[in-house]
Amino acid sequence: MKKLFQLVAFSLILSSVSLEAATEKTDKIAAADVLLEQNRRIESNYQFTFHGKTFVGYPNVYSPIIFPGANKQTDIPIRTGDHFLEIGCGTGIFSVLAALEEAEIVFAIDINPDAVANTIENAHLHGVADKMQVLQGDMFDPLEETQLFDVIFFNIPFCHRDCKIDELTMLGQSLYDPEHELLHRYFKEGKIHLKEGGKLILGYSTTHGNIELMYELAKKYNWQVTLLNKVGDEVTDFITIELYEFRQ
Ligand SMILES: C[S@@+](CC[C@H](N)C(=O)[O-])C[C@H]1O[C@@H](n2cnc3c(N)ncnc32)[C@H](O)[C@@H]1O
Repeated sequence: MKKLFQLVAFSLILSSVSLEAATEKTDKIAAADVLLEQNRRIESNYQFTFHGKTFVGYPNVYSPIIFPGANKQTDIPIRTGDHFLEIGCGTGIFSVLAALEEAEIVFAIDINPDAVANTIENAHLHGVADKMQVLQGDMFDPLEETQLFDVIFFNIPFCHRDCKIDELTMLGQSLYDPEHELLHRYFKEGKIHLKEGGKLILGYSTTHGNIELMYELAKKYNWQVTLLNKVGDEVTDFITIELYEFRQ
């Protein structure tokens, strides 16, 4: 909680929002904006460690070391020989780990060209570039309908704010899904690209996402939901991030 107050206090200076007027929702947006601002201030490439491995982070790409809880996220469950697709690869940490582990083929897609370049560099850094295809584009758009996967993963931007997607910067699109459009599309379009018996994995947040809507949409598109794990602590991290699995 202390951390949240520090974040909110800092954001009040930045945004001149009055604390009295702030609702819980605006607090969360203000706190997320502070983190976004920290991410935006990264001006040069930097190194960080995730799951005991060294990665490079680029400016203007979602940084897993800035967002509380993100560096605690666990590996994505994949089996030997799986074809793995990551939507929104960012620095590429999960795609590279999948390629280093069991996956036979890894596709990584991001709407942000800097994230694509960042993922390619990390793929080379870890010697797995030959297993990986890194594509720039909007969710599943860069794929042919015939391209199918065993596991599809999206650490989705789960924060909500009232605006249009085109009012957000690339970094803003790492955190915010203004009209929950990405969530809708993930459930709807995800099934087109899954092999029979395949699964969608979603990084989502009870504290910062709209968990009721997530369950509602999963039901609408006939997904059976399993909570795989939960990281982060609402008090010390001010956020929790869960990993959900969806099967038809
Ligand atoms: C929360 S970040 C996760 C990054 C990375 N997967 C990680 O866990 O560190 C969300 C990522 O989704 C990307 N993204 C947002 N909207 C997208 C879209 N419509 N299509 C593809 N990627 C998108 C953002 O650019 C960002 O890299």
